[in-house]
Amino acid sequence: MSETIYRNATVPDIPGMLDLWRCFWPPQSYEANLERKITKDPGLVCVAECDGKIVGTIIGGFDDWWAWIYRVAVRPEYQRRGIGVRLFREMHRRLAARGADGVCLIASPSNKSMCGLLKKIGYNEKEDRRFSLVL
Ligand SMILES: CC(C)(COP(=O)(O)OP(=O)(O)OC[C@H]1O[C@@H](n2cnc3c(N)ncnc32)[C@H](O)[C@@H]1OP(=O)(O)O)[C@@H](O)C(=O)NCCC(=O)NCCS
Repeated sequence: MSETIYRNATVPDIPGMLDLWRCFWPPQSYEANLERKITKDPGLVCVAECDGKIVGTIIGGFDDWWAWIYRVAVRPEYQRRGIGVRLFREMHRRLAARGADGVCLIASPSNKSMCGLLKKIGYNEKEDRRFSLVL
């Protein structure tokens, strides 16, 4: 296994990102959304790359107040190696640099891996499946 690289996503990464998401979610036509987001907000779509493929993703959104995080995923065979934590750290750094005071996300309380990860990095659980962290 090669070293894992964390970097901004680019348009040619889109097929690899969609392939990774198909491990967890039903296929959806996100090509146009991803291309728009990568082009409009370079730096707020981050990928982990290892062994020549995309093994992790995270997307940030910022509306000049609080920030949101979406589409956190790590390829099953690469999980429990700290890639999820590192993706969050990378995105927190990018969002804080843009002025975000804090970050929210939605996760199901029954999602043990995500809830375990959020607890480990200090997120607070709010009502309605919402988790938050002051940056
Ligand atoms: C959630 C997810 C991104 C975690 O990625 P990861 O790279 O395995 O996470 P890390 O290796 O950084 O794990 C960090 C901590 O999270 C917790 N954790 C991760 N997986 C866990 C699991 N299956 N059960 C319980 N805790 C878990 C642990 O505290 C872990 O620390 P440890 O390994 O020292 O015990 C990954 O499981 C995933 O892609 N899940 C499917 C997609 C998904 O559900 N995304 C979220 C949608 S809201």
